[in-house]
Amino acid sequence: MGATPARTACRRWGYPPFVTPPCSTRSRDGEAGETWFHTSMALDRSTIWPYEDGEPGRFYYSRYASPTIVEAEEALGALEGGHALLYPSGSAATSALVLALLQPGDTIALAEGCYFGTGVTFQALAKWGIRHVEFDQTQAPPEGVQLVWLEAPSNPYLTMPDLEAAAAHPAPVVVDSTVATPVHLRPLEHGADFALHSATKYLAGHDDALLGAVACRDETAAGELRRFRTVTGIVAAPDPAFLLLRGLKTLELRVARQTATAGEIAERLRDHPAVETVRWPGLGGLISFDVADNAAALRVETSTRLIVNATSLGGVTSVMESRARWEGERVPPGLLRLSVGLEDPEALWRDLDRALAS
Ligand SMILES: Cc1ncc(COP(=O)(O)O)c(C=O)c1O
Repeated sequence: MGATPARTACRRWGYPPFVTPPCSTRSRDGEAGETWFHTSMALDRSTIWPYEDGEPGRFYYSRYASPTIVEAEEALGALEGGHALLYPSGSAATSALVLALLQPGDTIALAEGCYFGTGVTFQALAKWGIRHVEFDQTQAPPEGVQLVWLEAPSNPYLTMPDLEAAAAHPAPVVVDSTVATPVHLRPLEHGADFALHSATKYLAGHDDALLGAVACRDETAAGELRRFRTVTGIVAAPDPAFLLLRGLKTLELRVARQTATAGEIAERLRDHPAVETVRWPGLGGLISFDVADNAAALRVETSTRLIVNATSLGGVTSVMESRARWEGERVPPGLLRLSVGLEDPEALWRDLDRALAS
């Protein structure tokens, strides 16, 4: 396999090839010491709870806090090594974080080639005086910006950021680590101020929950974000939080399997005559690769039987799509993005190989 910048970066930072997150440990006595191993997780859909002796208790109105959300936040916070906050989607987490941190006139340095929707969200915030400039995240961020926004690895270009260079920048650093997941990278341990997730993807993992998350170490920052979330009402619902709790129980196993299968498929794609470029950063279940042109990409994506022709990523089902449909000229016309699921790797390869010959 060729040494992509991302692989070099992984070696340089000494990312552990596989991090065992705390969710995979339980006491030797078989006690369910960690809340997320409880056999029955409580889904509490209440919006109100009775006052205690005439005073609001821990929970009283769900825009402020609710039990299922708090339980999921504690589980995710333990995985990221910080305080986690849930939001209704990854994009909601992005908007809430930017609006809470920045002022009119501030500029965000955004990793080029990252999830295109993040740039679209930032454009929508421009009328409130928040600008963004793009930069190569494998290099140091530009001077004079008030927030650095990285993606590990970027979707769909799959570059890894130079976290060391970013951490040396005076501005706060956000790492969208939706694709890496805490199984492969815990950004807060590498100097990032905030880790952000579309929990819709690997964390929940089954394409049935729309959810976002931000984690940070700083207690004051977490408190500010919580306050901002409450007053703006950008609050997640308990049902997806419940599905996140369920998803976290198998996160490590899913991501390990998806990473192993993606590595094998990336290797075989590199040898395929119909494939021009293969991007896989050496971690995670997301691959992108280029075929000759957009017509070829459309043919391949509509010719698979096992791999579903759909958007999104990070679920147990493999999905693939041509990204030019969404991103236009920002990506090569023949770029296909494949999110590897949990199917039999040989069956996946047979499906892909047949589609590439179509
Ligand atoms: C890397 C990344 N970040 C953020 C988002 C936005 O997340 P959501 O769709 O949950 O709003 C996505 C969605 O595809 C993504 O891929």
